[in-house]
Amino acid sequence: MGGENPYIQQTDAVLPTSAFKIRFTSDGEELKTVVVDPSALPERGDGRPGSLLRLAHAAGVEIDHACGGVCACSTCHVVLDQRGFDTTNEASEEEEDMIDLAPGVKGTSRLACQCVPDGTSDLVVEIPSWNRNAVQEGH
Ligand code: FES
Repeated sequence: MGGENPYIQQTDAVLPTSAFKIRFTSDGEELKTVVVDPSALPERGDGRPGSLLRLAHAAGVEIDHACGGVCACSTCHVVLDQRGFDTTNEASEEEEDMIDLAPGVKGTSRLACQCVPDGTSDLVVEIPSWNRNAVQEGH
């Protein structure tokens, strides 16, 4: 499964035009810092084009994504730093409804499959440890 969910209203997203960095962390520890090249965004993969989920997977950073990236679960929940959060597309009502179902929700929570950074700032993306644990245990 993958791609876009035809049953939800997608918000507009601006793809990056200049390089930026994403620092993926879990429990405050750095997992990997990725430099995103706007001319080489992953063309395939789960989640919206340019989404944090696609960018993470392309860089070898696993984020659980039970529904295949179509905004139908909350397993891809991540928490962004405020500055980075401000440079991402607006969450849809459907995304906000799904985030409400995730544990440990914060004001800068997003679903990685729906969140598209515009590249005007670097980001810090915290992957909740329960998500990583689920991946490591093979669920
Ligand atoms: Fe299911 Fe993102 S993977 S909502």
